[in-house]
Amino acid sequence: MVKNILITGGAGYIGSHISEILVKKKKNIFIVDNLSTGYRKLINKKAKFFKVDILNIKKVKNIIIQYKIDSIIHLAANLIIGEGEKYPKKYYRNNVRGTKNLLLACQNTNIKNFIFSSTAAIYKDGQFMVSENSKIKPKSVYGKTKIKSEKAIQSFCKKNKINYGILRYFNIAGSSPSGKIGLLNKSDHLFKNFSREIMKKKPKLKIYGSNYNTRDGSCIRDFVHVSDIAEIHLMILEKINKLKISKIINCGYNRGVSVLDVAKEFKKQSSKKVEIIYTKRRKNDLVKIIASNTRLIKFIKWKPKFDNLGKIVKSCISWEKKLI
Ligand SMILES: NC(=O)c1ccc[n+]([C@@H]2O[C@H](COP(=O)([O-])OP(=O)(O)OC[C@H]3O[C@@H](n4cnc5c(N)ncnc54)[C@H](O)[C@@H]3O)[C@@H](O)[C@H]2O)c1
Repeated sequence: MVKNILITGGAGYIGSHISEILVKKKKNIFIVDNLSTGYRKLINKKAKFFKVDILNIKKVKNIIIQYKIDSIIHLAANLIIGEGEKYPKKYYRNNVRGTKNLLLACQNTNIKNFIFSSTAAIYKDGQFMVSENSKIKPKSVYGKTKIKSEKAIQSFCKKNKINYGILRYFNIAGSSPSGKIGLLNKSDHLFKNFSREIMKKKPKLKIYGSNYNTRDGSCIRDFVHVSDIAEIHLMILEKINKLKISKIINCGYNRGVSVLDVAKEFKKQSSKKVEIIYTKRRKNDLVKIIASNTRLIKFIKWKPKFDNLGKIVKSCISWEKKLI
């Protein structure tokens, strides 16, 4: 059984949801986060928190040794696509060097399992439905930093006999049914932008690009509820630990939802006069991408609990209402 888990980036959006689930399962949680995009108020009260940067090998290693950490869930990263294009050096340093330093901190410790949050942004555009064996060719700097990190993890873990789980998330959205945590930062996140807009008197939901080669002209994504993603972490961690194996796994519903579908759902759930407007395409946006999730379902016999666009939108709106 895994017991002492270190979560890097545990003060962030996904990390706080993972912490909530792990705490419920009575795991001992330790969080390393530099709070660059995370928040103290998202940190689970039962977790032990260290305001530490993952680049700091010595401090991270001390925590791993002192608290007898057996597993790491590594989420700490910069992830805004546009920002990565503007500041590639910052992204390579934080995401790739950060991951490599974290791995170095694991050397000669009791770490047995390493889970990494990768992304669908590593896949070559135009493949529509991607399996773990689909062509890899990230368009963005962000995607490039993630595939480099994946490679570093695979090679380090093989050498050091650590089981790894590389989880390629598709697009994460929603907030916890507990109502205590959700997305706070102002990153360019579709559901966040729509949630904030829908709180205004005259909401205008902005869609980037109207003439993509898709069924309604807007981009298509596989949006996954954050609580489903959080649960996947625990299940995969227990499984790789038990079987002593490593896996790369797509995490999505195998369902394509268009950005226009999302806008329409927000409009449907609002009592205001909502306008849907189009602006020009964003650089480096993939046209359409959904997850083939056969491996995920087979490996952990996964049954998602929040696989419904209406539920995801509802949870975003109720979280946003709490923030006003
Ligand atoms: N949100 C998504 O849709 C999505 C999709 C695919 C992959 N991911 C991946 O999931 C992970 C978590 O994303 P999120 O949405 O929760 O973002 P987030 O910004 O809310 O969380 C990232 C956390 O990492 C921390 N952090 C960043 N650099 C750090 C460093 N050098 N040292 C210590 N802490 C550091 C931040 O303070 C923040 O709390 C990221 O690795 C991201 O690439 C997210």
